[in-house]
Amino acid sequence: TERRQELRQRARDLLARRDAVLVAHYYVDSDLQDLAEETGGCVADSLEMARFGRDHAAQTLIVAGVRFMGETSKILSPDKRVLMPDLDATCSLDLGCPVDEFTAFCDANPDRTVVVYANTSAAVKARADWTVTSSIGLEIVKHLHAQGKKILWAPDRHLGGYIQQQTGADMLLWQGSCLVHDEFKGVELELLRQEHPGAKVLVHPESPAAVVAQADVVGSTSQLIAAAVKSDATEFIVATDKAILHKMRAAAPGKHFVEAPTAGNSATCKSCAHCPWMAMNGLEGLVRLLEAAEHGAVPDHEINVDPALGREAKVAIDRMLDFAA
Ligand code: 13P
Ligand code: SF4
Repeated sequence: TERRQELRQRARDLLARRDAVLVAHYYVDSDLQDLAEETGGCVADSLEMARFGRDHAAQTLIVAGVRFMGETSKILSPDKRVLMPDLDATCSLDLGCPVDEFTAFCDANPDRTVVVYANTSAAVKARADWTVTSSIGLEIVKHLHAQGKKILWAPDRHLGGYIQQQTGADMLLWQGSCLVHDEFKGVELELLRQEHPGAKVLVHPESPAAVVAQADVVGSTSQLIAAAVKSDATEFIVATDKAILHKMRAAAPGKHFVEAPTAGNSATCKSCAHCPWMAMNGLEGLVRLLEAAEHGAVPDHEINVDPALGREAKVAIDRMLDFAA
């Protein structure tokens, strides 16, 4: 619509005027994904977002995603200003892993190497030996297992269970889950596959085991998009946040994408394959933020991480980034 075009242009102008870059996740509003690409920012998975923000010269990073993504950017670049459209955009994995309980869990298992998913607070990362994302967790655990290490894993039990099954590593799992991916259902997926016999199934590993077991490809958001582009198939069933379909359709034109089934419809399911916290990032909010930032500090949008805590968390994140390099 006209209003959207106006807002997009306004955001473009504001971004161009400032020493700022937009770093977006594939689960946010499609306008923000496009804007990020058009203005020299990026739309990416969580590992690539971290790397992009760290390496970009701009002194202000606008992170369109959820809080842990902003925190990771701040931890990697403590001297940059990191802003988010809505600081209340959290994640059920982060919420389900409070640092006190997590610390007690680690203290009770001192013989284990602590590996945490990126979807956690800075304080949890500070207690960890390694941070991993879905794109590289399997490789890192394989590496640790080959060294004979026993692992304490937190917080996503589905991703942890999948990695355990793939690597055979000794892993003690925290019992967290993502409220979006938790709703994909194995039985309903089987039925949908019968309706689309030629379709390849693309699954994010935060999904339950019964769904992952039916996958042709398991991977991070970027890995799933890349698989859709590369595959000879023309039809795909996608088990992850449906906002990713925007990029999949753009990257693989002519191919057909179907959403994997969730527990119910909008009346019965909590998320219906779209993260409520990612949904807090919109065009209006972004423009408001950029306008406010023109006139000085925006404390309600700025990510702050205690510097000492940040330095500890950075050790665990840097291990991952060095491993990935
Ligand atoms: P990716 O690292 O695959 O982008 O996943 C982040 C996330 O929050 C998935 O729910
Ligand atoms: Fe967290 Fe799930 Fe939302 Fe990703 S989709 S940010 S894991 S709640």
